[in-house]
Amino acid sequence: MKTYDIAAIGGDGIGPEVIEAGIEVLQALAKADGGLGFRFERFPWSSQLYLDEGHYIPPGGLERLRTFDAIFFGAVGSRKVPDHVSLWGLRLPICQGFDQYANVRPARVLPGVKSPLANGKDIDWVVIRENSEGEYAGMGGRSHRGLPIEVGTEVAVFTRAGVERIHRFAFELARKRARRHLTLVTKSNAQRFGMVMWDEIFLEVAKDYPDVEHDRELVDAMTTRMVLKPATIDVMVATNLHADILSDLAAALSGSLGIAPTANLNPERAFPSMFEPIHGSAFDIAGKGIANPVATFWTAAMMLEHLGEMVASTRLMKAVEKVTANGMHTPDLGGGATTAQVTGAVIAAL
Ligand code: NAI
Ligand code: MG
Repeated sequence: MKTYDIAAIGGDGIGPEVIEAGIEVLQALAKADGGLGFRFERFPWSSQLYLDEGHYIPPGGLERLRTFDAIFFGAVGSRKVPDHVSLWGLRLPICQGFDQYANVRPARVLPGVKSPLANGKDIDWVVIRENSEGEYAGMGGRSHRGLPIEVGTEVAVFTRAGVERIHRFAFELARKRARRHLTLVTKSNAQRFGMVMWDEIFLEVAKDYPDVEHDRELVDAMTTRMVLKPATIDVMVATNLHADILSDLAAALSGSLGIAPTANLNPERAFPSMFEPIHGSAFDIAGKGIANPVATFWTAAMMLEHLGEMVASTRLMKAVEKVTANGMHTPDLGGGATTAQVTGAVIAAL
């Protein structure tokens, strides 16, 4: 039997609620499968820990995390801590420290789920987000604080190595899909340096993938194309900031933020990869037991795929789709089901 060591970080708000649901479902899957096992270790890294002890990740924490096969992450963010402190305290040190440079965000309308688009059934996309540099490189600063001449800079950093590897990853992924189509998204009309370099490197890499069709779109035009012509899109690749925004739009168009998953991959496997729902800690519904666990189940399926457990991954997604098709929906999808009921139904379907 193959047993995987998974680090579970629930984090804040609904994070622990959906991660516990995900653990239950994965354990049920292991039981049903027979040849598969998981050892979960829970890490209480959260905003409460930060308020109590002054850190999200304790000293030596990343070194411990590194020994796991994968990381299963909920969400971080609290009303009591500024968002830039929580994000840079927990999620980004893991993504950047473990060089998880490829952020993969699939979007499609699951059976039984209603898209706000009339032609929502045409949505079958993968958003690929550069996850290690760009606008979130952490470069910038503030001077003359509090004075009328105060200045703040936020510098986007693009390296040839960083850009080339994400384009290559995107072409490789597009190549494995039926349509083999990749759209490059930038803003290289207004931003003349880093974005133009993105375009140039994309076209260089494209030469190695003659079997993948490609086109280009400016990021603003891409938002309208996603809404008006969803069928023209297959895979898209964009910078850290642009893809962050586009993938939230993709999630909303496919029904709810509560169903959208993501994988933060270190494709070379020098470090563990991290799997999380794309939503945040959702203060408005935390503690009510109504968070939609589907995003977390889907991200668990992505984790299984990354671990090479394709059969288990497909089995899990089929069970999730059976439950969404039957109309067992949490309130974000217009239903009245609780997290526990959806979780129980998925386990029964497994
Ligand atoms: P959010 O994703 O937490 O919530 C946005 C809206 O979507 C809310 O109305 C919420 O109830 C709903 N929603 C989200 N997930 C849901 C689910 N699973 N089921 C049902 N409804 C769901 O985004 P928001 O409000 O902008 O941020 C709240 C906190 O989360 C902030 O502190 C923010 O920084 C943090 N955040 C953390 C992320 C992460 O850890 N990766 C990602 C996004 C936000
Ligand atoms: Mg986001």
